[in-house]
Amino acid sequence: MTVTVRVPAKVNVQLAVAASRPDGFHDLANVFLAVGLYDEVTATPADELRITCEGRDADQVPLDRTNLAARAAIALAERYGRGPDVHLHIAKDIPVAGGMAGGSADGAGALVACDALWGTHASQAELLEICAELGSDVPFSLVGGAALGVGRGERLTPLEVGGAFHWVFATAVRGLSTPAVYREFDRLTAGTEVPDPVASAELLDALAKGDVDALAATVSNDLQPAALSLFPELTATLDAGRAAGALAALVSGSGPTTAFLVRDPAGAQAVAAALAASGTCRNVRTAVGPAPGATVVTPDGLN
Ligand code: C5P
Repeated sequence: MTVTVRVPAKVNVQLAVAASRPDGFHDLANVFLAVGLYDEVTATPADELRITCEGRDADQVPLDRTNLAARAAIALAERYGRGPDVHLHIAKDIPVAGGMAGGSADGAGALVACDALWGTHASQAELLEICAELGSDVPFSLVGGAALGVGRGERLTPLEVGGAFHWVFATAVRGLSTPAVYREFDRLTAGTEVPDPVASAELLDALAKGDVDALAATVSNDLQPAALSLFPELTATLDAGRAAGALAALVSGSGPTTAFLVRDPAGAQAVAAALAASGTCRNVRTAVGPAPGATVVTPDGLN
């Protein structure tokens, strides 16, 4: 018996960040959009917990118990009083350390895969609770689509999306650590009044209507100045995408992947080609959102 689960990447179309909380986390108004770049997590019975990984930058993925996929298996096993005796194989297509929730996707994927493999049949509420313990973005990887996340970003309200949005993503030559970007946000905003994070009504309306021009006019990322401060070369990537006709250009989450909103597949091809030729990024991908959340893709995987 083998279960394979497919899990999407995300882009934050709005990321409003409050000042640091006493626990070091930041309250957010985080508008997630899942996009069609996927990792696949395959669970197979094994004598003990084992993680393997293939794909671009697989060598940068930890294979020990710090991997969110391992932590997900352990959390589910503990809850159901069994051992986490599973081999989890991750086929990575989401950029590693890219601000696209690749690690979170693997956590959500492992959880759904183990739940199906072990027949634990956890409720959606239980799965979401475990996801929230694993990381702020993991619940969204489970549900996909589009959602507003508040608190650390883990308390989700699904959002209506009235059409398909076309994106180009440019990966960078090195990664950025999410905690380091939040620390830089704290440093840059020290001594200033940081407003309470609020979802933009115009942006939610643009998503609901599928209106790409209105979405392009309202996307925002409060972590972008911090990401650019730590990685100034990203400015050239953003400029190259804008010059090629992107309707909006922004850092994805904590970066360093940059995201370009375009009108249609032809626009995506044009921006992707210009970015690839610009020499300002490592790799260029196109994807459409919204995309479904963690989904079992092996027909025989449900027991
Ligand atoms: O929740 P997660 O493990 O993904 O968060 C990684 C790091 O990002 C945290 O340790 C924290 O430094 C930062 N973070 C934050 N505020 C959030 C989410 C993440 O400060 N809402």
